[in-house]
Amino acid sequence: MVGAGISTASGIPDFRSPEIGLYSKLQKYDIPYPEAIFELNFFFHNPKPFFALAKELYPGNYRPNATHYFFRLLHDKGLLLRLYTQNIDGLERVAGIPPAKLVEAHGTFATATCTVCHNQFPSQDFWTDVLADRIPHCPVCTGIIKPDIVFFGEQLPQRFLLHVTDFPMADLLIILGTSLEVEPFASLSEAVWSSVPRLLINKDLVGSFAWGPRSKDVMLLGDLVQNVEKLAELLGWTEELRSLVQQETGKFNR
Ligand code: APR
Repeated sequence: MVGAGISTASGIPDFRSPEIGLYSKLQKYDIPYPEAIFELNFFFHNPKPFFALAKELYPGNYRPNATHYFFRLLHDKGLLLRLYTQNIDGLERVAGIPPAKLVEAHGTFATATCTVCHNQFPSQDFWTDVLADRIPHCPVCTGIIKPDIVFFGEQLPQRFLLHVTDFPMADLLIILGTSLEVEPFASLSEAVWSSVPRLLINKDLVGSFAWGPRSKDVMLLGDLVQNVEKLAELLGWTEELRSLVQQETGKFNR
């Protein structure tokens, strides 16, 4: 289970870190309170702040970091049952984790849908307008096109329901870079059997790790990438992780 904290090392701010989180930097947008930027009612009232933020978060500007490649290594070794992410930056896919192994619980920028006629569009149609500071409109009915990320109050993607079978099957739950503040995603942290160890890798204690830890909980607190690299070292995967990152990021520098 992951959140925005795994992408801060890629240069994408998280939401709630004091001063540096996205929610404390939205003053420049004309919004009543931070979460409004992801609320449908406000979006229909004024879509400009959202599209300005989307332009800042344009996936093409960012690259996965060692944490994303650690999950790729787990997958390559046949150890990843599923990666549940709240992130909309798509960096898990860029790191080579197959979509079948992913649950993008808060949606993705990969596709977009007209808010009036519900026609679906590939993301490139939408990004051309957004990067040119234009509001994307549907060529069929002129309605506003919204990327398929989940706004507060919207249904989560159908794939989120995979948790019903995944979590009872898990023999280890790793939770990284999330404040566990947003439901229903946060409650997944309680969905594994009490006999299953839970590993929290985060700056600070969050969720039930803070108010009611389980006997088999392990917490690695502090800088996320350093702790993921420490975990890789304990597993004897340091070299493999390092060469995977070089092989993949070398791909980008070509
Ligand atoms: N090292 C360790 N921990 C970090 C680091 C780092 N470099 N950077 C951030 N964190 C931690 C923060 O301390 C915080 O506990 O990651 C967590 C990020 O929490 P949030 O900013 O709340 O992000 P997230 O949990 O993903 O938010 C959930 O809220 O607004 C909605 O839909 C949005 O998906 C998002 C959801």
